[in-house]
Formats: sequence, C-alpha cells, structure tokens
Amino acid sequence: MSKKVRRIGVMTSGGDSPGMNAAIRAVVRTCAYYHTDCVGFYRGFQGMINGEYISMNARSVRNIVNQGGTILQSARSKEFLTKEGRAKAAKNLKDAEVDAMILIGGDGTFRGGQVFSQEHGIPVIGVPGTIDNDIYGTHYTIGYDTALNTVVEAIDKIRDTASSHNRLFFVEVMGRDAGFIALNSGIGAGAEEILIPEEDLGLERLLDSLERSRRAGKTSSIVVVSEGDKIGKNVFELAEYVKQNLPYYDARVTVLGHIQRGGRPSCFDRVLASRLSVKAVELLLDGQKDLMVGMMNNEMESCSLDQALKGKHNINKDLLRISEILST
Ligand code: F6P
Repeated sequence: MSKKVRRIGVMTSGGDSPGMNAAIRAVVRTCAYYHTDCVGFYRGFQGMINGEYISMNARSVRNIVNQGGTILQSARSKEFLTKEGRAKAAKNLKDAEVDAMILIGGDGTFRGGQVFSQEHGIPVIGVPGTIDNDIYGTHYTIGYDTALNTVVEAIDKIRDTASSHNRLFFVEVMGRDAGFIALNSGIGAGAEEILIPEEDLGLERLLDSLERSRRAGKTSSIVVVSEGDKIGKNVFELAEYVKQNLPYYDARVTVLGHIQRGGRPSCFDRVLASRLSVKAVELLLDGQKDLMVGMMNNEMESCSLDQALKGKHNINKDLLRISEILST
C-alpha cells in the first residue's frame, strides 16, 4: 500500500507560461481544502537540489491568479540531469518531510520527474504548462491560449504597417519543434502562409504561393514561421531568399520572441490551470503516482508519465488546408 500523503511539494520548471500562477494557487488551495501541508520549491528542480522552499497556505497565493510568470520562478537545471543532483533533491525532500511532488512544466520536466520517482520512490504528478502545446495526453497546455492571443494581437499590428507600406512580413513565433502556435495564430491572424516543422512545404512552393498572391492583387502579405520550421533556412535567410527571387517584394522580419511567454493569462488558461491542478492534488491524495493530468475533450483525464513522454501530440493537418483555402 502506498504511504499516506501528508505534505505535497509544488514547483514550476522549464520555460514559464501564463497560467502557472493559477496552477500554483490551485495546488496550494486544494491542499488547504483537504488539510494537507503544501510547500513550494523555487526554480524547479534546482530549488529541490538546493533545498530552497517555503511553506504555503491559502493566503500565500492571494492575488496571483491573474499574474503571468511564476511566483516560484523557473529554471532548466543541468544538475538534476545527474544522479548526484537527484539524490540531493531526494534528501532535501525527505528532510522537509515532503511525501510527493506536483511538477508544473513541459516534457523536460516530466522526463526529470519520471527518473526521479523511479530512483527515489517519491510519487510525482505532472501538470502540463508550456506555451508550445506539444504534450501528448492533453489537448491544451497551460499558457498556450494566452500565447496565441499575444501572437494574434502582435500580427494584427504588423498587418497595419504591412498594408500601409505594401510589405511582406515574415513573423517568427515560438514552439521549439511544434507548429501549434504558428498554425493556429496564422489562421487567427489571417496569414497568407504558415511554415511549421510538421510539414515542409519547400522553398519553391513558398515562392509560387507568394507569386500567386501578388498576381491575385494582394499588396501585402504575412508569413508566419515557426521557430522550428525545417525549410532549411532561418527566418532572416528566408526573407533574403524571397527578396532575391521575388525582387518586387519589400520584405521585413519580426521575431516575436519571449513576449509570447509573458502577460496576464487568458480566462481559458486560468480555468485550465485550476482544473488540472485540483485533479493533480486529488490523484496524489488518492494514492496515485507518476501520472500526468490533461484535458481531453473538455474532461479532466490522466495518463502515465511514460505515455505522455512517448506519445506525440499531433497538429491537426486539416488546419493547413483551411489556411490555404482562406489565403486565396
Ligand atoms: O518551451 C517553451 C519555449 O518558449 C519554446 O517555445 C522556446 O523554443 C524555448 O522555450 C525558449 O527557451 P529559452 O527561454 O530557454 O530561450
């Protein structure tokens, strides 16, 4: 029988995402609701290694549901990749009498959590928080919706200046190796072309499409480029290549960068973070371990960390077809 969980630790790790604070708040308040102690570790796995934590109660998380970033801060810890680092973290958890951990982050966080749990027998539950939406076992990750809205708002502004100057804009968006942000923001912002890692359209197709746009009477265009796009050129080289081949285009590049990770979380992300985190605490109190919580078809679900790590969350390729139809 698994040991009764009396004290739960929570941390945020990897790239921060809007809604992580709503998740922390929900973990802490759910613990309070079930009369379970809660401690927050700073800077993800690094804080577990360094023994940097605070005791949290319902009042520690007041007024954070609407804040971007993470009050517990985040990091990508190299030391936790080592056996020694993980052993230090396990000792600190034992000393602090922490029985189980809730890890809010992306696939790197879950990979670390899975090894840690296997080595030290400390139950963990993963809560998917990343703007990239690239996690299997959930249709949405915390922060993705807010990032999409940030990108769409930025591209709307770029469109104003693009049309005023008859320009072609290449807008690079985040997503590491996944095209979710590019694809959905591209459709939302009415982009002429969307380049994502999952589908290599090829340079020739891009030139043809831009040429067609011009012939169809378009005087300005937006191309959304995912940072992980595999077209073989970075966004600046791509713009240069297009300028050389289609000299009538006055091309510019905007890299949206880290503004996509900040800002007030959307209502969708706050609710998602709240639902996932309540579920995560309840699973631990129910004696479950090594799972990731997710939202599938608007229902709270869970899958093993192993499944979450081995599975692939695929983009909906029909969206590419829709984008093509709508950019005629
Ligand atoms: O995983 C989230 C993410 O924002 C990716 O979209 C991006 O590639 C990466 O993190 C950037 O990481 P960093 O903030 O360490 O540069």
